[in-house]
Amino acid sequence: RESVHGMWSSRTVFIMATIGSAVGLGNIWKFPYITGEYGGGAFVLVYLLCIALIGIPIMMAEILLGRRGRSSPIQTMKRLADEQGASRVWSLVGYSGVIAGFLILSFYSVVAGWALAYVFQTASGGLNAITAEGAASVFGDLVGSPGQLLVWHSVFMLMTIAVVARGVRHGLERAVTILMPALLVMLFVMVAYAYVEGDFASGVAFLFNVDFARVFELCTGEGTQVSCRFSGEPMLVAMGHAFFTLSLGLGAIMAYGAYVPAHASITGDTITIAIADTVVALLAGLAIFPLVFGNGLEPGAGPGLIFQTLPIAFGIMPGGQLFGTVFFVLLVFAAWSSSISLVEPAVAWLVEVRRWSRLTAAFLIGLFAWILGIGSALSFN
Ligand code: PFF
Repeated sequence: RESVHGMWSSRTVFIMATIGSAVGLGNIWKFPYITGEYGGGAFVLVYLLCIALIGIPIMMAEILLGRRGRSSPIQTMKRLADEQGASRVWSLVGYSGVIAGFLILSFYSVVAGWALAYVFQTASGGLNAITAEGAASVFGDLVGSPGQLLVWHSVFMLMTIAVVARGVRHGLERAVTILMPALLVMLFVMVAYAYVEGDFASGVAFLFNVDFARVFELCTGEGTQVSCRFSGEPMLVAMGHAFFTLSLGLGAIMAYGAYVPAHASITGDTITIAIADTVVALLAGLAIFPLVFGNGLEPGAGPGLIFQTLPIAFGIMPGGQLFGTVFFVLLVFAAWSSSISLVEPAVAWLVEVRRWSRLTAAFLIGLFAWILGIGSALSFN
């Protein structure tokens, strides 16, 4: 059985597209800043365990369901429930995924819009020799301006719609075969730059030195008087992030699985995808933290880490304008190949049940997500 939406032209393309979905703002924006907030190595270890023990099996299940159903996640769940004589309530899995996709896209596109804005800020030299106060005010001006946020949010949403409207082969497939290799090259360039110009050893130590006290418990006192309190929060954050970074739980991967060639190895491909996603997150950490430490900056700035802290580093480093621009282009590419997978399940569903053209479906879904995103954009100001 083939999907009515078309199929990936090869197993490699499927792997690339799914890595494209997985690798996104989660890897390059969120992973570094939560690692910074939760103190480094031990948090990374818990995150890696969540990927291996929870993420990989769930990704296998999503791809498997998608490949059996060969339709949008909603129709796939209905079809498989019917085949098995199970309750159609299972289709709620598909519906909840579509709703969650909208919710994610509504802020995802806004943050991707920040990245777009920073491409131009950096390329035009607007961040050269910037001070900490200057960087804070550039970021503050951006998120404080509803007009700017909405413009960039709209541009990014249009970029997403443009790809999805063109279909699986001509849209999604063509986009990922250009974006993913480019992303990889830029990432290696950035790591090399951090190696040459930053404090690489401190970056590595921060990411890989495991200090369990920081994740499992908060301790006070000394010697025999130490008292420790269990804190589950970092573990919960690590687990949540494992789902987010692998695009799990909302049918994006199920939708991509519907277009997978029959002979693909689900286990093998899932492991490849999960490893690639993890390696990209770690490489992003290796591109960012050496620059942060090398310039005496703090890793725990939160969501502003790459928008406020990193520009200070780029501003004072040789070649910072060029490499800063490369970094933000990389971020946009990563976000773009992910946002298309947030839209695809709902678009595929509308094409199936309403028989709309992809263009109409993609436009309507994009419009709806864009409207929701306005709420997210205005929440900053
Ligand atoms: N995995 C993406 C990231 O790490 O940025 C985010 C994402 C994409 C989540 C698609 C869910 C999804 F369906």
